[in-house]
Amino acid sequence: MTQRPPLPGFPPGFRWGVSTAAYQIEGAVAQDGRGPSVWDTFSHTEGRTKDGATGDVACDHYRLWERDVALMEQLGVDAYRFSIAWPRVQPAGAGPANPAGLDFYDRLVDALLERGIRPLPTLYHWDLPQPLQDAGGGWMNRETAYRFADYAGLAAGRLGDRVKTWITLNEPMVHLAYGYGFGVHAPGEALMFDALPVAHHQLLGHGLAVPVLRGSGAQEVSIANNCTPVRPASQSPADLAAAAGYDAFHNRLFLDPLLLGGYPDLSGLGVPEDGGHIKPGDLEIIAAPIDVLGVNYYNPTVITAADPAETGLPFGFEEIEGVPRTALDWPVVPEGLTELLVGLKERYGAALPPILITENGCSTVDEPDPDGVVHDEARIDFLDAHIRALHTTVERGVDVRGYLTWSLLDNFEWAEGYSQRFGLVRVDYETLERIPKDSYRWFASALAAQRQG
Ligand code: FCB
Repeated sequence: MTQRPPLPGFPPGFRWGVSTAAYQIEGAVAQDGRGPSVWDTFSHTEGRTKDGATGDVACDHYRLWERDVALMEQLGVDAYRFSIAWPRVQPAGAGPANPAGLDFYDRLVDALLERGIRPLPTLYHWDLPQPLQDAGGGWMNRETAYRFADYAGLAAGRLGDRVKTWITLNEPMVHLAYGYGFGVHAPGEALMFDALPVAHHQLLGHGLAVPVLRGSGAQEVSIANNCTPVRPASQSPADLAAAAGYDAFHNRLFLDPLLLGGYPDLSGLGVPEDGGHIKPGDLEIIAAPIDVLGVNYYNPTVITAADPAETGLPFGFEEIEGVPRTALDWPVVPEGLTELLVGLKERYGAALPPILITENGCSTVDEPDPDGVVHDEARIDFLDAHIRALHTTVERGVDVRGYLTWSLLDNFEWAEGYSQRFGLVRVDYETLERIPKDSYRWFASALAAQRQG
């Protein structure tokens, strides 16, 4: 491992942790009464995922979870963001809870708390119960928002005596765009901008869940948004307008209603602002105050003007040149994290809640050496640089409360199947053996140094 200068110290109480998601790690898709989700259906449909990969086994975390908790304890994290599988808790997406499904998370929460690790469950990381898709189009259907709030009540009713922080949704933007816009994620709908009700219904579900969670003892309610700093490709009026349009779509479509109680004007994108799905009172529900804003940051986006008649989209994407790239070919731009968060502070001012980085990480090509050791220097470089950029952000006056890296384990990377490894810990998918990588050891010593001040 290359020697690196120590990281700067973060404020006392800053939370350090790791993130995962149910469908990406759990496996055991038919155990203890779990029902099918849209991701089971999608991954089992030919041609949808790389090499036909499914989450049937994944990291088998449902069975091996105690090992994974031990890995977190040795890593020295004080927070763990996982997601609860809605189809384990409510296999039909409606009706009473499945106690056996909740038992799993009950045991997990207790084990985390015993080790001083704060559980940060996300209620929805894209695994919608299939019956809700079949009944009315999933999140295209307003009813799904109400079903989500019911489910939130079941989960918090069981765990809320111990879980004090809840994250409602993961990346409603990515679920909208990939799941319902382009159809490259479950449920595989390619509705383009006609999918916009999916944004509103997810936000409504979030807003309906907030008072339910508070009623079950939540001290902090949050949502994890995928946010990107948007850069115009040039200062030409056309590029500037396209970039503003993309920013409104990717970032403001979700943050403005949550923090300001209103939607941005998307008319420049050629989409109707309201197709009739926004009902009186909805925006007040959505703008229920949250305590923490979860931010998932991966990279900035460079936008050019485009002709919708040619590409079907009112904006184009340009590569960022001259920077390292991850195995997924994503540009590595740590200063984009500072740009993003300082930009959010400038935009939302006092309306911006304290921030928790709920995801940040990279996939790398990191095979074990002949001794079985994984030298993932590129991941260490990535984390080191992003944590420094986060420190700069804090110095610039943004209230950031913690940093959770994606991910603890290599896992099922959605349509990419098992081809992308994001973990601090390697998973051998043949044997399910967990092999901590160099980045795991680096992160462990960085966290130990933070604790010593
Ligand atoms: C995010 C997802 C997460 C993981 C990372 C790489 O968009 O929330 O599940 O796939 O990307």
